Amino acid sequence: MNAEIEAISVDEENGQVAPYVFVLFGATGDLAKRKLYPALYNLWLGGLMPSAFKIIGTARRQMNDETFRAHVRESIESFSRRELDESRWKSFVDQFHYVVVNAGNPEDYRDLHDKVNELEQQENLPGNRMFYLAMAPDFFGTVALNIKGGGLTDTPGWKRLIIEKPFGTDFDSAQKLNGQLRQVFEEEEIYRIDHYLGKEMVQNIEVIRFANSMFEPVWNNRSIANVQITSSETVGVEERAGYYDHSGALRDMIQNHMLQMVMMVAMEPPSRLKTEAIRDEKVKVLRSLRRYTEDEVQHQVVRGQYIAGSLGNEALPAYRDEHGVAKGSMTETFIAARLFVDNFRWSGVPFYVRTGKRLARKSTEIVIQFREMPKHLYFNRNGELGPNLLVIRVNPVEGMYVQLNVKRPGTEGGVLPVAMEFCHSEDDMPEAYERLLYDASRGDSTFFTRWDEVSLAWKFVDPLANAFRDNSLPLHEYKAGSFGPEASHQLLRDDGFRWWPVYGEETMSVEEVLEHTVGQPIVQR
Ligand code: BG6
Repeated sequence: MNAEIEAISVDEENGQVAPYVFVLFGATGDLAKRKLYPALYNLWLGGLMPSAFKIIGTARRQMNDETFRAHVRESIESFSRRELDESRWKSFVDQFHYVVVNAGNPEDYRDLHDKVNELEQQENLPGNRMFYLAMAPDFFGTVALNIKGGGLTDTPGWKRLIIEKPFGTDFDSAQKLNGQLRQVFEEEEIYRIDHYLGKEMVQNIEVIRFANSMFEPVWNNRSIANVQITSSETVGVEERAGYYDHSGALRDMIQNHMLQMVMMVAMEPPSRLKTEAIRDEKVKVLRSLRRYTEDEVQHQVVRGQYIAGSLGNEALPAYRDEHGVAKGSMTETFIAARLFVDNFRWSGVPFYVRTGKRLARKSTEIVIQFREMPKHLYFNRNGELGPNLLVIRVNPVEGMYVQLNVKRPGTEGGVLPVAMEFCHSEDDMPEAYERLLYDASRGDSTFFTRWDEVSLAWKFVDPLANAFRDNSLPLHEYKAGSFGPEASHQLLRDDGFRWWPVYGEETMSVEEVLEHTVGQPIVQR
């Protein structure tokens, strides 16, 4: 095979993932229940688990193998995309075991080690060990050090660590945490999950860009007027106010998911289809991302917080009235920002990102807006000539469309925007966690976040967080169930642009949309 086009190398045995033990910390938690057990089950159903494997759940709660297996069953019944297959269930669930582990108690890790050894011997496993920390990040450092202290990293096979964001709360804390993890694991052994990178259409950006000769020549500032990336949610803070009220949309969504999507859109073609080559190109985007000083933030960033409103017929409380939110909280539940990637390809092209809770629609979309044709052309007689758009739909619909102008039938100079659409939501798509767990089990870290990505993302975010803390920009209010504060629309209007409607928004009446976009700055304390 030509080395230049060699695919990402993975460690598989005869085309199958090598046998391993999966040690899950936080086995009784929400993430495990909603995402991880269903992902493991669906991988297994799809023949993507190794021929032999063991899953050891650990948590503080007293349970035995039997009660743990019942817990796993409940999770599959409630959250799996495919139904539980009764005839095969036993051979899956028999691989689950439980050990009580108090994260801070080194003794417990020795018991855990004994259990891992026992199962590896019993099943003749080669000693490959995957540790997944599905728990509060405050414990990451301690658990990693205790894993080592308990002898669990002394193994003839591979060892890998999977962790979820938040990876620190700023650059300094992230660096400290990384230092702790690196005492136990090499960078190549650390798999930092950003679940957006597991989404089908986010992974597809690379293919759309680099496998279609019609896009690459126009993928630059000569042809593209702006890029818009929206991730809007209808949910509020649910049960997570304790975390969210300290993190806000900036740390919760911008530092990771939104910047990851910016990187995928803006990166240069990698020199080869290799993990590090791809991640090198992504990192270069963050290096080129214009950093704002605290004073500049107010001109480039809009922050908002939802007040009481409604969605459909449901009345929704204000953020400040949500259970667990601090009285008079100044935490942002919405952000819109204008970013610039200062390199040759993107110089002068604004990347607008916006994300928020309690918005009118749940939708993640990337819109590439192309430069407009000269407006004096006769096609534009009625002012109908709009720009071409390439829209990548990540969620809830997975697909893309290209908006083109064609002749309005039966007219002489009339123009009609039409969409060429492709969508594969109907297919039975694997969930992000399935893809990511599978990749980690094969040793493919392409769609995981490397340390330099994390650190550069924090370096961009820290001045924004400081400006928020110092209230050097207004906190705008927006009604729950709206499309965010008016100031977010003004941000684009100032540049002669507008947010393109996200999926589902087109079906709203103009009155509804207008009704939904009012908002005033919240008076600062
Ligand atoms: C998580 C955030 O990382 O992403 C949540 O912590 C957010 O606050 C979620 O709701 C959104 O993910 P998705 O896949 O539903 O867009």
